[in-house]
Amino acid sequence: MSSPQSQHPAGSTALNMDHQWLPFTANRHFKQAPRIFVAAEGMHFTTHDGRQVIDGISSLWCVGAGHNRRPIAEAIKKQLDTLDYATAFQISNDQAFEAAQMIADLCPGDLNKVLFCNSGSEAADTSLKVALAYHRARGEGHRNVFIGREKGYHGVNFGGMSVGGLPANRKVYGAQLLPRVDHMRFIHDPVHHAYIHNQEPVWQEDPLLELEGRILALHDPSNVAAIIVEPVAGSAGWYLPPKGYLQRLRQICDKHGILLIFDEVITGFGRMGTNFGAD
Ligand SMILES: Cc1ncc(COP(=O)(O)O)c(C=O)c1O
Repeated sequence: MSSPQSQHPAGSTALNMDHQWLPFTANRHFKQAPRIFVAAEGMHFTTHDGRQVIDGISSLWCVGAGHNRRPIAEAIKKQLDTLDYATAFQISNDQAFEAAQMIADLCPGDLNKVLFCNSGSEAADTSLKVALAYHRARGEGHRNVFIGREKGYHGVNFGGMSVGGLPANRKVYGAQLLPRVDHMRFIHDPVHHAYIHNQEPVWQEDPLLELEGRILALHDPSNVAAIIVEPVAGSAGWYLPPKGYLQRLRQICDKHGILLIFDEVITGFGRMGTNFGAD
C-alpha cells in the first residue's frame, strides 16, 4: 500500500512515510500534517523544522524523569558495552536480579516478586496469566472469571482488551475477546456524584455495591480469578477513585479469595508522588 503524501512536511528532506503504521492514529491524516520530532532534551522535543515543543504527557508517561537525562543515558550506554542482552529463559544476568530487588524494595506491603515484561500490554496480559496459573497451582483451576471496569485500559493485547472497557476495541475485536469477563461500573458519574478538583470524590452511594450484589453474585465469587483496575483511571481521562473505593475493593477481594491486580502502567514508579498508586 502506498500513500500519495509521502514527502517530508518541510519539503526539504525527502522522508518516505509509506512503510510505518502508527498505532491509534489516523495514518492518512497524519501524513497530511505530520508531527515529526528529531531530538529531545529535558521536557522539550525538537521538531523537524527546529521548533521546541513541550512533551506534556512525558511521551505517554514513559519519560517522567525527562528526556536525555544523563545518569539514565550513561547507565544504558554502560550496560550496552558490558552485557547487551541475555535471554531470561533458563538463564539470567546479574543486573536483572539487582533491578528486581530495587523494585521489590519500592513496592508496598509484601509485594516482592518481579516478572519483567516488554510493555504495559504484555504486563497486563501476563498478570492475568499469573492469576490463572496461581489458582490452578492451588487446586482452584475453576477460578477463571476476570472482572475489569468500564472505560478501563489495559493495553492492546487480547487479554488487556477483554478486561478493558473501551467500546472501540469491542467494536472491532469483540468476537474474539476472552470469555468469562465482566465489568464493574466506571468510577465517575458527572450527573449524580460530586467531583472536587484534586481531592478524592465522595459518592452518595457505595460505587462497589453492584460488584458484590450483582457481578459476584452472578458468576459466584468462587469462580472469580482476579479483579483488575487502574488505581487512577488514566486513558478514560484522569479520574481519582471515590474515597475509600480501593480499600473497599481490597476487602471484597480478600473476603472471596479473589486476586486484586492494580495496573500501574501510568501510576507506578513515583508518578503519583508515592512509589505506586497502591500506596
Ligand atoms: C493502564 C495502562 N495499562 C496498559 C497500558 C499499555 O502499555 P503499553 O503501551 O506499554 O503496551 C497503558 C498505556 O498507556 C496504560 O495506561
